[in-house]
Amino acid sequence: MAVWTGPNCYIAPMNELTGKHIVLGLSGGIACYKAAELCRALVKEGATVQVVMTEAAEQFMTAVTMQALSGRPVFTSQWDARTSGGADNNMPHINLSREANAIVVAPASADFMAKLVHGRADELLSLMCLARPIESVPLILAPAMNREMWAHPATQRNIEQLRTDGATVLDVGAGDQACGETGDGRMLEPDELLYDLVRFFKSKVLAGQQVLVSAGPTFEAIDPVRGLTNLSSGKMGFAIARAAHEAGAHVTLVAGPVGLPTPRGVGRINVKSALDMKEALDHLAQTATVFVSAAAVADWRPAQTMDQKIKKDGSGEVPTLSFVENPDILAGIAASPRAQGGALYCVGFAAESHDLLAHAQAKRARKGVPLLVGNIGPATFGQDDNALLLVDAHGTTELPRASKLVLARQLVVEIARRLQA
Ligand code: C5P
Repeated sequence: MAVWTGPNCYIAPMNELTGKHIVLGLSGGIACYKAAELCRALVKEGATVQVVMTEAAEQFMTAVTMQALSGRPVFTSQWDARTSGGADNNMPHINLSREANAIVVAPASADFMAKLVHGRADELLSLMCLARPIESVPLILAPAMNREMWAHPATQRNIEQLRTDGATVLDVGAGDQACGETGDGRMLEPDELLYDLVRFFKSKVLAGQQVLVSAGPTFEAIDPVRGLTNLSSGKMGFAIARAAHEAGAHVTLVAGPVGLPTPRGVGRINVKSALDMKEALDHLAQTATVFVSAAAVADWRPAQTMDQKIKKDGSGEVPTLSFVENPDILAGIAASPRAQGGALYCVGFAAESHDLLAHAQAKRARKGVPLLVGNIGPATFGQDDNALLLVDAHGTTELPRASKLVLARQLVVEIARRLQA
């Protein structure tokens, strides 16, 4: 288990890319320095990495550095006679591309992409891109350039053409650029690229779905400085949002007060109380096709929220709180015409302390949802791992203890299977 930190930090199991062989191509640009970090991250995730550099890339980064990080000699020339891909035929453009699970060009300069558009092949990297088996070896490009170059119609036209020709062109970042200007065109950060590559290899079982996920606790205010909440960390719901995005869905996360970073590519709405959460979810459920209700919504809220802090006056008198019940958000959405008509598939969660199966079955019926996911609350709150029991009309499925991300990915597959049925 590893804790990643950075702009899009997330908790992830290691070895996300075990068994994958990546040819990492560097074309010329200052973003080559990020390719070094990316190479290291790919290797750390279990991939084998073969680096290929253009002459321009060598102006920005040495082959020595990339060899040290990848653990393999770097190729820079189509005339390189060293054994490549296990063959001695002096054809590195054929041999290197045949053994790759993907060719990733990071950075992909404006000039390099223009070359690819025209099928030019006058140096090893472009030659290899052209010579790759187009059906089995995906080409992934991470553009990097000045904002004017990025916005230029020629570049945008080229990107469109590259996509038509089957390449995957990743987003660019916005912000300060090495040239001193500010705008779009920065290469994504290494952790963002890593996320996109891990996602690339996941099967898109939720493509076309609009997935709505609730996560975390709610906070029910007593007065401006006090409130009632619970121990839900939000990690399971955040992992489900990430897994659904990896599976190709458009994902919106409605999160109670937790400090977790938003999974890359996921839209997030922060809420506090159960009533805030209900308002956001009721609205989004009008267009969602899947709703996973992983939030630990408070069952009750104080009947009254004081405008001013309740003061301790020294008399020894203690305030008396009375409660009202919160609406059941999930049950309400599951009873809506869209859910009843089959346009919205609802998944509930049950955090129990004992008798998981019986409680999960009862809760499934009470909430009116097709799928209920049971877990033992005290054993999972705040942890990075969990174990799940899925209950639907046909019976039960156990997902044994694993990291929350692994379980979330399994749950996504289970949901997709039920959507297809
Ligand atoms: O009734 P209980 O809280 O155990 O049910 C858990 C399930 O119901 C979870 O999916 C939770 O998100 C949802 N829930 C809700 N609104 C509530 C209470 C729970 O949507 N007021």
